Amino acid sequence: MRGHLLALPALVAASVPFYSNTGPVERSDSRADAIKEAFSHAWDGYYEYAFPHDELLPISNGYADSRNSWGASAVDALSTAIIMRNETIVNQIIDHIAVIDYSTTTTSVSLFETTIRYLAGMLSGYDLLKGPATGLVDEDKIEVLLKQSKNLADVLKYAFDTPSGVPYNTLNFSTHGNDGAETNGLAVTGTLVLEWTRLSDLTNNPEYARLSQKAQDYLLHPQPAEYEPFPGLVGSKVNITTGEFVNGAVSWNGGTDSYYEYLIKMYLYDPERFDLYRERWVAAAESSMNHLASHPSSRPDLTFLASYDTEGRTYGFSSQHLACFDGGSFLLGGTVLNRQDFIDFGLDLVSGCHETYNATLTGIGPETFSWDPNSVPENQRELYERAGFYITGGSYILRPEVIESFYYAWRVTGDETYREWVWTAFVAINKYCRTDSGFAGLADVNAENGGDRYDNQESFIFAEVLKYIYLSFAPEDEWQVQKGNGNTFVYNTEAHPFKVYTPLQ
Ligand SMILES: *[C@@H]1O[C@H](CO)[C@@H](O)[C@H](O)[C@H]1NC(C)=O
Ligand SMILES: *[C@@H]1O[C@H](CO)[C@@H](O)[C@H](O)[C@H]1NC(C)=O
Ligand SMILES: *[C@@H]1O[C@H](CO)[C@@H](O)[C@H](O)[C@H]1NC(C)=O
Ligand SMILES: *[C@@H]1O[C@H](CO)[C@@H](O)[C@H](O)[C@H]1NC(C)=O
Repeated sequence: MRGHLLALPALVAASVPFYSNTGPVERSDSRADAIKEAFSHAWDGYYEYAFPHDELLPISNGYADSRNSWGASAVDALSTAIIMRNETIVNQIIDHIAVIDYSTTTTSVSLFETTIRYLAGMLSGYDLLKGPATGLVDEDKIEVLLKQSKNLADVLKYAFDTPSGVPYNTLNFSTHGNDGAETNGLAVTGTLVLEWTRLSDLTNNPEYARLSQKAQDYLLHPQPAEYEPFPGLVGSKVNITTGEFVNGAVSWNGGTDSYYEYLIKMYLYDPERFDLYRERWVAAAESSMNHLASHPSSRPDLTFLASYDTEGRTYGFSSQHLACFDGGSFLLGGTVLNRQDFIDFGLDLVSGCHETYNATLTGIGPETFSWDPNSVPENQRELYERAGFYITGGSYILRPEVIESFYYAWRVTGDETYREWVWTAFVAINKYCRTDSGFAGLADVNAENGGDRYDNQESFIFAEVLKYIYLSFAPEDEWQVQKGNGNTFVYNTEAHPFKVYTPLQ
């Protein structure tokens, strides 16, 4: 998932013994087995201590409900369990989904988070089980996934009932209300269209697609013109009343990120209907290469994407773990559109993000980092000189983006280097994050043993981190990302694969 910087949970001192890794395993199928073991380890801990709550507290063995208490980790784990072909887990999750009551919750509801985790998790499960992943569940159990997707969208859809059609993101189900926000973010507005369109295509009910595409139209035809300072690159917030942009804060960082991600993915989903999305992604990608590509003074060989503020006409030399999906996006666009310049630039971005992993004490990259030569903290000068960045937020909360881009690089180039990077990251996560019941975040990736650990396990460890790691060593399957035009699946921002659209389905 992208879109938001999450609030960090309370720190818990590292008191749990570290998992001792058995050392590198040479063949990819034994690596795949080790990754399945890690997934089962996390599932078993969640199932014992937290199910059917949203997430496990992996140090205290408690639970939390940060996503409306509908069982976020279970729903988010479904597509990975299917891809790993674990019949036991798949059936446990579908039996749970059948009894979720999406119409009630005591917490506020994020349209974006609910769409990318729950709606997408169920739609992806449906697409996979109907298609290539047969034989895991009884045929008659599959339909509940589509039925519950529709139930969920039907309770969410009032969010779009605004003067412009740009939705509210934060909803109050008990009052059928919202948080009264005047604006909505670029990412949370622009990361709904794949899920809601897929739901329409599967149900033959055009309403869901129409709602999400109407909101998206304001993003594709940005007004006023000044808030598109470079072709394709736009501001970070739109006015819910008018659909107009209210700033020109441009970046690929959290808050804007997955808007760009979905432009090329919509084209992959259906090139007929979404050719304008391709055009907008190409413009944004070319502008990013021309205007945002940035090379640290101490490591001119590295490439990161800067941000740009239209008001002050200034650049910001900061990036994030979240933004490291960018290499994967350039690689996907480059291979689908047969543009070697995008592939080459994507690989440069992947190498930059790899450096943020490679240079730390744990081998895991930080949440936020910078390369402004005038602001290097004295105690990080050595890091900046050696690695081309310094750390501004040192936590790791089990995010996937760097590994996700390594996966795209492996699939698009076939170069073993990239899946070695995946494996190295997996070994580090297993070493520093693993607890007796799951995986915990780290407070400081550049401290001995990662510093303190967070007693929280985000659902995206199941949906994204362990999926992209597994896919890198898993057998060839229809859902694997393909070079060129061979893709029959497209991954949402939470790593749930959807079948690409075919007119006669
Ligand atoms: C499926 O997952 C369960 C629960 O984690 C685990 O015990 C079992 O070994 C897994 N089965 C396979 C075939 O991997
Ligand atoms: C929803 O609105 C009601 C009435 O204003 C309020 O009491 C309740 O706390 C709100 N719920 C959430 C989750 O914000
Ligand atoms: C949004 O647009 C409305 C209607 O033009 C205006 O009254 C309001 O001030 C705008 N809000 C922001 C934050 O720009
Ligand atoms: C960093 O990269 C070097 C060279 O590829 C490699 O030898 C080393 O093991 C890597 N370290 C980590 C922590 O990934």
